[in-house]
Amino acid sequence: MNAASPILSLPEAACTPVGSEVYRGLTARPKTLCPWLFYDQAGSELFEAITDLPEYYLTRTERSIFSERGDEIIAAASDGAPLTMIELGAGTATKTGLLLRAAIRMQGVVDYYPIDVSESALAAAEQHIQAGISGVRVESRVGDYTQGVAPIDCVGRRLVLYIGSSIGNFEPSDAVGVLREVRRILAPGDRLLLGADRAKDASVLIPAYDDAAGVTAAFNKNVLTRINRELGANFNPMSFRHRARWNEDQSRIEMHLESLVAQTVSIPALELEVRFARGETIHTENSYKFTPESIASIVERAGFAMTRCWSDPQQWFGVYLATAV
Ligand code: AVI
Repeated sequence: MNAASPILSLPEAACTPVGSEVYRGLTARPKTLCPWLFYDQAGSELFEAITDLPEYYLTRTERSIFSERGDEIIAAASDGAPLTMIELGAGTATKTGLLLRAAIRMQGVVDYYPIDVSESALAAAEQHIQAGISGVRVESRVGDYTQGVAPIDCVGRRLVLYIGSSIGNFEPSDAVGVLREVRRILAPGDRLLLGADRAKDASVLIPAYDDAAGVTAAFNKNVLTRINRELGANFNPMSFRHRARWNEDQSRIEMHLESLVAQTVSIPALELEVRFARGETIHTENSYKFTPESIASIVERAGFAMTRCWSDPQQWFGVYLATAV
């Protein structure tokens, strides 16, 4: 901080993305933290482990739709035009291989642009695709798609993949904003393929977010460990309990960290002391669950027309094809 700083200015760490989010969230009532804070190295590994859990049906159900209906999905997206595929938040692109293979069966080669904030995940995706699928030209782009997507030239039709129900971690109005940014780089007739979890019984939803092995609890609590490491805080993760709640009115699973005792936590980098009452929670994530109608309303507000949808026999997960209008 320089000598000209006003006396009441915030410490420097409160101006970094992590510092400002932690400051905002832990001084808010009720206390919240944004879910992007989960994804440091350890959190990303824990999320990968979640996708393999027996209770976490989302990943394997979406994968089963791609493996059984991949050719049909790609044919519907193409409608005779060559496809260029762009993936938002691609990560290691494990499920995408099924759609890339379907595109190669249809058109021989495919240009694929995975976009992700994690350079290492993109490198892993590129390596995995180049080693296992011939005919894919990969051009990775490191960046945060929520801040907008740079234009991508192509011959034929663009197909933007936004899978894994990541759309569900945004408030519905923010989800519309993210898809509007995507729509800006598309021409009329280009496509969006959206994977979104469906609303269902709490007896299926709750275990998916509160598994018996405690992996989701560790994922949730890891945010406290991250704040300790990056901002010098003294959270004791053992004094918080993972909570998953189904909020039926809002059609969302909420994750919270509940303080087991009355306590005060120091965050020196933010010059902040945070008091918790016993039972008070930090709301760390919403995971919205959709009906075909609620997802159609989001894509339509963002400038797309709903074109087709696919689901699994239990109707647990939805894959939606929309067209830019
Ligand atoms: C990344 N996202 C779609 C996951 C979800 O299901 O909302 C994040 C997650 N949170 C707890 N488990 C998984």
